[in-house]
Amino acid sequence: MSDRKRNRIIALILAVICVTALVGCGGSDSKIDKTIRVGVVTYTQDDPFINAMTDKLKSQLKTMENSNMKVIVSVRNGDNDQREQDEIVAEMIDAGCDVLCVNLVDRTAPANIIKVARQNDIPIIFFNREPVHEDLEQWDKLYYVGCDAKESGDMQGEIAAEYIKNHPEVDRNEDGKIQYVLLEGEAGHQDAISRTDCSVKTLIENGVQLEKLSYQFADWNRGQAENRMTQLISQYGDEVELVISNNDEMALGAAEAYRNSGISEDKWPAIFGIDGLDDALQAIKEGTMQGTVYNDKEDQAGEMARLAVDLFKGNSLSSHRLQDEKYYVSPYQKVDVDSVDDFLHR
Ligand code: GAL
Ligand code: CA
Repeated sequence: MSDRKRNRIIALILAVICVTALVGCGGSDSKIDKTIRVGVVTYTQDDPFINAMTDKLKSQLKTMENSNMKVIVSVRNGDNDQREQDEIVAEMIDAGCDVLCVNLVDRTAPANIIKVARQNDIPIIFFNREPVHEDLEQWDKLYYVGCDAKESGDMQGEIAAEYIKNHPEVDRNEDGKIQYVLLEGEAGHQDAISRTDCSVKTLIENGVQLEKLSYQFADWNRGQAENRMTQLISQYGDEVELVISNNDEMALGAAEAYRNSGISEDKWPAIFGIDGLDDALQAIKEGTMQGTVYNDKEDQAGEMARLAVDLFKGNSLSSHRLQDEKYYVSPYQKVDVDSVDDFLHR
């Protein structure tokens, strides 16, 4: 072999080694600022509020894409099974995700997810289903984006009290008391517990005399609430004057039960929900619901998207104004027939 030929072969080998080395370390180095992979896992695929918020999160993340950062979002759900959700999280981490957004199935059981994320140094933004404080304290890369459940209960109590004051005809049998039914979301969920508690307390504090007819769990679900309400209608006829629901889906289920009951519309109860989903806003416009409390999915999704990108880039989080350096608390807003147009089609 001639010297020239040998030198060319050596140069070629060196070039191959260099390129391989560059690509190899480039894999992790150039990832910074290049492609962020966000793994989003919800507790179920059947929750309209969560689905609406997840859609906003996807679009918010996409708006953060630019010439030097690509965003890949993958969304899966835990099918209401914590173990299944644990496995999905492990798979997402194996597939190379950089930041996780987790809507826990069981908010008291994040241990496995935290463990595997920590082993791989992948930050977690929990949302909507709040882990207990001790769990969030386990590692400094754990965050929570959600709301103050008490605030939604207080606001629901306030708009209901205000409505009853302005509409004395709610007390249809004129006994000075409001016969009411309460539809509860999900046993053990922070929102269900506080909303039930605070809305009733606030109604009483605002001078409304209440008479409890029934409390029913309906799992945040429209169909289940319709069934429960149909049952209650067969028990109480047109005696129910007020329905307080922990969320809009169940409030809409209650309205549906009345629609199918044959009871004339002037004898339907006043119905209040929480979330501000489009169907509920429409029902408020049409007068089949009287109010709701806006659970600001745009704000929560926006915060999650910004937080995910800042965590990925290693930016300072000071602009996020997190409480305890971990919690982002999105404010609720009251919605009634006068303000409903401000919330439609956000
Ligand atoms: C609540 C919301 C409910 C349901 C629940 C799921 O904040 O009001 O409609 O989506 O979260 O965790
Ligand atoms: Ca009454």
